[in-house]
Amino acid sequence: MSMYRIAVITASDRCAAGERQDLSGPAVEEACLEFGEVASRKLLPDDRAAIREELIRLCEEDLADVVFTTGGTGFSPRDVTPEATLDVVERLAPGIPEAMRAYSAQKTNRAMLSRAAAGIRGRTLIVNLPGSPKAVRECLEAILPALGHGLDILRQREGNCGAVE
Ligand code: MTE
Repeated sequence: MSMYRIAVITASDRCAAGERQDLSGPAVEEACLEFGEVASRKLLPDDRAAIREELIRLCEEDLADVVFTTGGTGFSPRDVTPEATLDVVERLAPGIPEAMRAYSAQKTNRAMLSRAAAGIRGRTLIVNLPGSPKAVRECLEAILPALGHGLDILRQREGNCGAVE
């Protein structure tokens, strides 16, 4: 099984200010133990420009196959992770947040409140995850089984999805 290079960005004003411990970044890492290796981890405030610049750096320097952000997907005026993501992606991957929300809706009706986005810049996929460790686990449970196939195609390690008549 391939091991993918993973970058994790936690977006949280409180964690970045040292007022709260970041449990969500580690939750991403733990859920991805069998999926890949963490190549980069970063804790940032809910600042659109800061998140955007870090996403650009990771993609342009080709430091990861997939970037998982956690936090900042809700309705608070400070929640801007999807906007920072949409600032930098060249192609959208709407099926990923659709799958996360459909799966998560079976756990909580508040799943609809995550505005998470996903898309591709260069050869890197960016996926927003909500901020709680529980939500991180549930969303990754929903998408990791299919994500490797997408990354293999993005990285041209695999030609197509197989002939389907
Ligand atoms: N998705 C899953 N799977 N499980 C959850 O508990 N919480 C929701 C939603 N998505 C949740 C979830 C809630 S309560 C909110 S407010 C939004 O994610 C946004 O979270 P964020 O602002 O921490 O990104």
